This record gives sequence, C-alpha cells and structure tokens, in this order.
Amino acid sequence: MALYKLLRPFAFALDAETAHRATVTALSMSPLLPLPDFGPELEQEVAGLRFPSPVGLAAGFDKDGEVADAMLGLGFGFVEVGTITPKPQAGNPKPRLFRLKEDRAVINRMGFNSGGQEAALERLRKRERRGIVGVNIGANKDSADRIADYAEGVKLLSPVADYLTVNISSPNTPGLRQLQDEGALRALLSAIGEAREPNGPPVFLKVAPDLGEGEPDQIVRVAIQYRVDAIIVANTTVSRPELKSKHRDEAGGLSGAPLKPLALKALRDFREASGGQIPLIGVGGIANSDDAWERIRAGASLVQLYTAMAYEGPGIAARIASGLADRLKREGFSNIAEAVGTG
Ligand SMILES: Cc1cc2nc3c(=O)[nH]c(=O)nc-3n(C[C@H](O)[C@H](O)[C@H](O)COP(=O)(O)O)c2cc1C
Repeated sequence: MALYKLLRPFAFALDAETAHRATVTALSMSPLLPLPDFGPELEQEVAGLRFPSPVGLAAGFDKDGEVADAMLGLGFGFVEVGTITPKPQAGNPKPRLFRLKEDRAVINRMGFNSGGQEAALERLRKRERRGIVGVNIGANKDSADRIADYAEGVKLLSPVADYLTVNISSPNTPGLRQLQDEGALRALLSAIGEAREPNGPPVFLKVAPDLGEGEPDQIVRVAIQYRVDAIIVANTTVSRPELKSKHRDEAGGLSGAPLKPLALKALRDFREASGGQIPLIGVGGIANSDDAWERIRAGASLVQLYTAMAYEGPGIAARIASGLADRLKREGFSNIAEAVGTG
C-alpha cells in the first residue's frame, strides 16, 4: 500500500491507458504472491464454486488474461478476465479512457480491445489454476452473427474458465445491449445452452444499470429458465449523474463513485425480481467495506470492483475483505452467506 502511494503520482502523470498498460506489464513480470488466507467466515459456495472471499476483481482490468494470478495473490477472492472477443480487435481510437479524479470516477469507451480468444486460451492454459478465474466473453464489433460469437466463446474457453460471463451490457459496442431484450436474450441463452457441456463451468450474465421498468423481472425470468447460474449487476452506465470533472461529457460508460447509487438500485431491483432464486453479484462504485456490506445485505452473494482500485491501489481488496470479516463478527453472523439479502 505504502508502495502504491509512492508510485501513484507517477502513474497519474501518465495518460490513463498508458498507466494501465504499464501496471499490467509490471504485474505480469512480478513474482506471484501466495494466495491469502481469508478465514472461514468469508468462504462460501456460489454457483457450485467455493469462493475464499466475496471480493472480486471486475472485468476490464485484465482484458486478455495476463495477470489473473498476480491479482489473486494481491488479495482478490476471484478475478474476472476479459471481455475477450472471438477474433482480435483494436477497439475504439485513443484516447478512450478518462480519469475523472474530482468524481472518483472513470469514463471508458475502450470498445472491447482484445487479443482474441485463441491467444487468451493459450495463455490461460499455462496457469496453475490456483484460485477462481472467470472469463468474460463478448462479440466482435463487425460480427455478422453476435449470438454465434458468444456460443463460440463458451465452447472455446470453457476448459480454462472457472466460470464464464456473458457480457451483453457494454455500452461501447453499438447495439450490444439490445441482447438484453427478451426475444434476443432467449435466442442468445438458448444458443449458449446448446454450446455448454454438461460438466462445463457455470455461466453468469452481466447486465447494465440503465434498464427500464420491468426489465429486471423479464431478465430474471429468462435467465432462470435457461439455467444461467448468476447475474452480475452491473456494468458501467451511459447516464451522467452530476459530475465535476472536465471529462464529464466524454462518450462511454461511467464507473466509480457516481455509479454507486444506480448500481445499488439495480441490484435491489434484481433481488426483488428474483427473491433469492438466483445468486447476484454486486458491482459498481464499491470502494470500501461499508459499500460491500450494503451490497451483500441488498442481496449480492459476491461483489466486484475496478475503478476504486485505480484510485486506491490493489490493497483495497484485502482491506474490504478484512472489514467484512469484522462486520460479520460485530453483527453476530458466523459466515458471509448468512448475511446475503438480510438488508
Ligand atoms: C476501463 C474499464 C474497462 C472495462 N471493461 C469491461 C469489459 O471489458 N467487460 C465488462 O464486462 N466490464 C468492463 N468494465 C466494467 C467493470 O467490470 C464494472 O462493471 C464497472 O466498472 C463498475 O464497477 P466499478 O465502479 O467498481 O469500476 C470496464 C470498466 C472500466 C473502468
């Protein structure tokens, strides 16, 4: 942590994407730290997997699966790599990643820059497979059949994924979020159902925080029907709550502190719609153990974060985990699973 504070001014002097690339490269060259012991109170089974801590790294930091093990060693209970598209693609022109420092936020319009699934498969095959690594899959921008892209991702990457996330909520691939509409979602999940092997990894669905009334109910109904194993709520928002930074009008998805109320509201809507019938993963603006606790009480079995780590360093994951363990003890719970949805 002290080291991160020392390095942060240098990282913040670089443009956001250069700093991010330098961080990933440095992590990929560092020796792996052993996996932390989070204690039995934080361990729980979700979607058939044993999570040692409910605090995960959200998709988008490690898009190509280069540093998942390093991030597990730094204190995340699970790491989601991706979004990975079938074919390599460059994403949108730069600049496409903006720090909104005054708002503790980020706007990105990366547009699924990806080394492609073949390269990711090779890299992930070489892992020792310690800790839980989920693989988030998407569709190529120029794809003639986006549903086929997801089915291909399921087939190809199942062998190296502890879980797969079907990301239909990125705002930076035009039209992608329409896959959340009922008819399209049925067609997508049906194709994914056919692509899944009986002993393959669980499949999670990642949704946007900007849904209309009734949409959470619809999505939950279809997700349960097609045996989705968990729903991740939520991706970045295309809405613009009041922001101070000069970058506030940049196009793209907003993440970090200003997303927090929207993501919490979306999680509550999904909890109400599902009544606990399908596990939920809360993400969006989580920056401390109070935020994580609030999400768990609202119905999230697990949480993820990304933007707060850019401001506070990777030590944030272990700090939140230890804050959650204290909280459990204080409130008389013996395990995190008992607290889910009690708020
Ligand atoms: C730079 C950046 C890139 C992202 N890329 C992806 C992505 O490729 N796939 C995805 O599902 N989510 C992506 N996200 C969204 C995050 O996974 C997360 O849902 C969102 O940022 C809200 O969490 P946060 O406020 O803790 O950052 C990205 C977010 C950021 C900031």
